[in-house]
Amino acid sequence: MTMEFTDRLTRVEPSATLAISALATELENEGKDVVDLSVGEPDFPTPENIVEAGKDAMDAGHTGYTTSAGIIELREAIADKLADDGLEHTTDEIIVTPGAKQALYEIVQALVGEGDEVVLLDPAWVSYEAMVKMAGGDLTRVDLSETDFQLEPALEELETAVSDETELLVVNSPSNPTGAVYSDAALEGVRDLAVEHDVTVISDEIYKEITYGVEPTSLGTLEGMEDRTVTVNGFSKAYSMTGWRLGYFAGPEDLIDQAGKLHSHSVSSAVNFVQHAGIEALENTDEAVDEMVEAFERRRDMVVGLLEDHGVDVAVPDGAFYMMLPVDDDDQAWCEGALEDAHVATVPGSAFGTPGYARISYAASEERLEEGIERLAEEGYL
Ligand SMILES: Cc1ncc(COP(=O)(O)O)c(C=O)c1O
Repeated sequence: MTMEFTDRLTRVEPSATLAISALATELENEGKDVVDLSVGEPDFPTPENIVEAGKDAMDAGHTGYTTSAGIIELREAIADKLADDGLEHTTDEIIVTPGAKQALYEIVQALVGEGDEVVLLDPAWVSYEAMVKMAGGDLTRVDLSETDFQLEPALEELETAVSDETELLVVNSPSNPTGAVYSDAALEGVRDLAVEHDVTVISDEIYKEITYGVEPTSLGTLEGMEDRTVTVNGFSKAYSMTGWRLGYFAGPEDLIDQAGKLHSHSVSSAVNFVQHAGIEALENTDEAVDEMVEAFERRRDMVVGLLEDHGVDVAVPDGAFYMMLPVDDDDQAWCEGALEDAHVATVPGSAFGTPGYARISYAASEERLEEGIERLAEEGYL
């Protein structure tokens, strides 16, 4: 039988990163030692107190369904965290999701329909494009590669891209894949355009806790943005909890009501005992987070220094654990070559909408990072 698949799925391409990870696995199966700088997850174990809280919650019988939006104690802890960031949300304005990815999916499904226009800042995290396409939306992309991935000097381009036709704008600061943290002036520029053209903005703040010497502003704290910002965050990155699948979004109650329908009819809720562990993460894990962030900062400095030694300048990231390495125009071929010849895995910039770069993740030990850079240099890739 020939199955007929829906347009919403056939118009989405398989991720360009798949080719690289398939090749990396093939090489590893052949016994090759691959330095994997392509991963989007911290290399630290989940802090012990969080693991214990998860186990205790299971032992205490927190294994059934929860309220669809998430247990009230976690939503209260999230509301407190958001208040610390200057965002006022009641627990009725928060949905707890299995990962920030599901939060983003639900928001896009709630707001974007066939032919609706969505603006992305490039390079942009791979799944935004796929989510918008699956919802039937059209993308307008603003390239930040000419401005060291900063938004402030590109506000004029953004002004050209945003119009009354724009339904949604996605801002991700600190950014995956660039590590850029947008200045307050840049965010104010976003606010002015959003207010002028009546646009809803997603502020994906999943890397907010991972910054180096800068304090990123939450977009929703700016005057005029309170009722048009949906703030997304999660536990994967700051607390090294990728596999636990826990995230959330907070926004205007009518959006929460609409997205909540999709949430309850699809995932029902996030995992019960994982939600209990999330409370522990938010309330008692600051020290472990600080230690991980300090390690990322040391690695960032080391990688930037090693690249400089090889004559390569990068835009130094102020947050997250990624940086963009300028490579050949055909970045896909560069990444495949770097993997085949130097056994170093990176992600092509074209996967994020910006060819000519490779994303390096420095969520790896200093030893492996050094090894990876040296191999790239030896094989002529730097
Ligand atoms: C920018 C960004 N947003 C959201 C996510 C989703 O994270 P999770 O679903 O693990 O919470 C990621 C993960 O890589 C990300 O990089």
